[in-house]
Amino acid sequence: MVQVSGLSQLKSPTPTLVRSDDYVEYCRQTAKHARDLHDLALRGHHLKEITKAICESIAEAVSLGPGDDLVDIGCGDGTLLRIAHERGVRSAIGLLATDEEVALVRRTGLEVRQALAHQLPLPDECASVVVCNSVLLVVPRENIPDSLHEICRIAKSRARIYIGEIPEAAPRDPTPQFANRREALSYMYDKHGLRTWFGLLRRMAWSQITRQSLTLSPGTAISFFATPQEFAALSSGADMEVIRHWPHEHHKGRNNYLLRKVR
Ligand SMILES: C[S@@+](CC[C@H](N)C(=O)[O-])C[C@H]1O[C@@H](n2cnc3c(N)ncnc32)[C@H](O)[C@@H]1O
Repeated sequence: MVQVSGLSQLKSPTPTLVRSDDYVEYCRQTAKHARDLHDLALRGHHLKEITKAICESIAEAVSLGPGDDLVDIGCGDGTLLRIAHERGVRSAIGLLATDEEVALVRRTGLEVRQALAHQLPLPDECASVVVCNSVLLVVPRENIPDSLHEICRIAKSRARIYIGEIPEAAPRDPTPQFANRREALSYMYDKHGLRTWFGLLRRMAWSQITRQSLTLSPGTAISFFATPQEFAALSSGADMEVIRHWPHEHHKGRNNYLLRKVR
């Protein structure tokens, strides 16, 4: 296996099969091929009810209600923004990693913008509630301190801040390295079914015709993890204090955090 600038290039007859763990690119590809808005929550087609339940429990944890100004960083399919409006918030802004995701969610009438967690295009102290669920785990580790500072910067004094799904330890990436195209196809069929298998087969055929390499972005690699003690120290370095943390209801080994801006 040859490492090429962050990508692992697999030896196979040309054109090559390349793996990319760039999560933003994975988000872009998901949006381009989305069949349903919920695909943008990146949990799998059949887990819409789980997304709803997770967002309801986030709204409860931060006591979201009338008068709140919510910013949801990495808002997925916009489920939390919809819940926020049902609860009568003053404003609810969602941020998404790519313009492709923004275009799909904006069509539903929600206010969304493109942004990455470490550079938020929002003014200081504009949010009484900041949520960032199932996002920091895919943010490159070197961008975590800046991301936490940005979360704190946009939060009003004493704002409630929810940061969810932080793995305690480095999890094993469930997507194996594929030695060849056949292995990749067989894995996609077993794991994701006929539709995904056929989509990959079509992309492989196209790469053969055009003689261009084929990039697979599985979106399963985790970039950031921290024990509760490590996460509390990182948060405190960004002027936020952890009020409480608890194990995630659906993902063993991940924790949710409720924090408050210190000043
Ligand atoms: C797994 S989804 C979570 C969606 C939603 N928060 C939920 O819990 O249903 C990840 C979200 O993070 C966003 N995202 C990916 N990389 C990001 C980054 N570096 N900074 C901010 N958001 C990012 C994606 O646009 C996507 O909406």
